[in-house]
Amino acid sequence: MKKGLFITVEGLDGCGKSTQLSLLSDYLLSKGYEVEFTREPGSKGLGESVRNILLNYDGEVSNRCEAFLFLADRAQNIDVIVKPAVEQGKIVLSDRHIDSTLAYQGYARGGDIEQLKYLNNLATNSYKPDLTFVFDISVETSLKRVGENKDRMESENREFFEKVRQGYLEIAKHDRQRVKVIDSETSIETIFEQVKGFVDEKLV
Ligand code: TYD
Repeated sequence: MKKGLFITVEGLDGCGKSTQLSLLSDYLLSKGYEVEFTREPGSKGLGESVRNILLNYDGEVSNRCEAFLFLADRAQNIDVIVKPAVEQGKIVLSDRHIDSTLAYQGYARGGDIEQLKYLNNLATNSYKPDLTFVFDISVETSLKRVGENKDRMESENREFFEKVRQGYLEIAKHDRQRVKVIDSETSIETIFEQVKGFVDEKLV
């Protein structure tokens, strides 16, 4: 049986996560790996309902309530989807995971980073991704790509997203082994070459 892997992708909205995930999935399948997709918020089943609240609820949401909802969805994602699949030798690709909480609820909303790290560990039972990509784009590019049709999180202001971006760069600075920052203002092919390089290192 092939060794399973857990890979997560992060970045501002419009950074090209979905395109890279789809290229990576095709690449892995062509090499004979089994691939499982998941996302946060909104893993299959229960997660869909949590995603709906987080992105569409239009009343007041306290910062702590928001953090706990993301964390609840994360616990479900790890227990029900990620861990079982990796144990079966699959490569699990998650669109967002622990670093989104640090970047958005921590660096951008002002939540305590150490406390959020502790809560992340509680939610994941300390299960960690083998590899994480941060697709780095400017806030300007992100806002342009998201356009006018925005969900609750996307409706924050420019300053908020600047903090998210800097938060991701800070996270990567302290965990270079796991977190790879990729300049994503370049072409899809150039970005994917780098993704492939880092993933290949994990496959050998
Ligand atoms: P995403 O699925 O990337 O949105 P879309 O489907 O529109 O591309 O992410 C949903 C939003 O949730 C995104 O703005 C980031 C935010 N988020 C957090 O604030 N904290 C978290 O822990 C996670 C997982 C996401």
